[in-house]
Amino acid sequence: MTSPSIFDDRMLSLGLARVAEQAAIASAKLIGHGDEKAADQAAVNAMREQLNKLDIKGVVVIGEGERDEAPMLYIGEEVGTGNGPGVDIALDPLEGTTLTAKDMPNALTVIAMGPRGSMLHAPDVYMEKLAVGPGYAEGVVSLKMSPSERVKALAAAKGCGTSDITVCILERPRHEAMIAEVRGTGAAIRLITDGDVAGVMHCAEPHITGIDMYMGSGGAPEGVLAASALKCMGGQIQGQLLFRNDDERARAAKAGITDLNKIYTRDEMVTEHVIFAATGVTSGSLVSGIKREVGYLTTETILMRSKTGSVRRMIYRNPTTPRG
Ligand code: FBP
Repeated sequence: MTSPSIFDDRMLSLGLARVAEQAAIASAKLIGHGDEKAADQAAVNAMREQLNKLDIKGVVVIGEGERDEAPMLYIGEEVGTGNGPGVDIALDPLEGTTLTAKDMPNALTVIAMGPRGSMLHAPDVYMEKLAVGPGYAEGVVSLKMSPSERVKALAAAKGCGTSDITVCILERPRHEAMIAEVRGTGAAIRLITDGDVAGVMHCAEPHITGIDMYMGSGGAPEGVLAASALKCMGGQIQGQLLFRNDDERARAAKAGITDLNKIYTRDEMVTEHVIFAATGVTSGSLVSGIKREVGYLTTETILMRSKTGSVRRMIYRNPTTPRG
């Protein structure tokens, strides 16, 4: 029998799927209602309630923000029953609050778990990200290359022309120069309005999503979640924290980060084997969104373990009225 203090990823993974599912179900009634905050809060409440049922001594290392700005699932919050292994938890109860409020594709509930000390304590600042899927030599593309050099290097490694490469980028004014440079190579760009965890994960299944590479800046917490996902699915991600002011640098110092310019690899962001679950809120190319029928809500969850590389897609039909 496994000692209850050991991180038993196999046993814990089904519990993790339930956490992601319940957060999605809680936000379902708010899809398309134009209220980002309410949708996020519903997901946060449900995720916390479910986490507290798990036999873990959990600490939220990537959460809803600093303790003084987030009442629940804040960084450092302890979750779980307290009986069981010490674990690090990275979560985003609703990744794509605007996508949910506007009923646009690719909103997810996302959670990853690993042994204590396994995840980078990334502060809530921006991160420059670069990701590709599995099957390429380590460092085939790098944050040190310009965007056009990355496209050319990936095309050479894939054995195709630059016009056969598709890059996913968040559509933001700050990315205009990057977008122009990538277009200059002849590569295609899939612009997304939000949700870069899904954007990065799309690189791991290029045959399904059509996306070869992700680049651009987004939230650092989302970067650690995306690194957890790629550790399970295969693929590379590099991330470099970006600081706009002293307050953000102070956040990094508080999180124990000393080298502010470091480029983190996937395995430096997530140093041990982890489990990862994400449930679709609105439909996307990774998982379906929540489907409603009278008396039921149905969710699809992707559940993965990096130790085995196993990827499950789980359909859950949840009765909306309790059985008598
Ligand atoms: P939220 O769900 O917290 O709104 O985040 C959505 C998101 O698009 C992330 O996926 C991404 O990392 C970040 O926002 C980008 O930030 P910004 O909107 O400031 O460019």
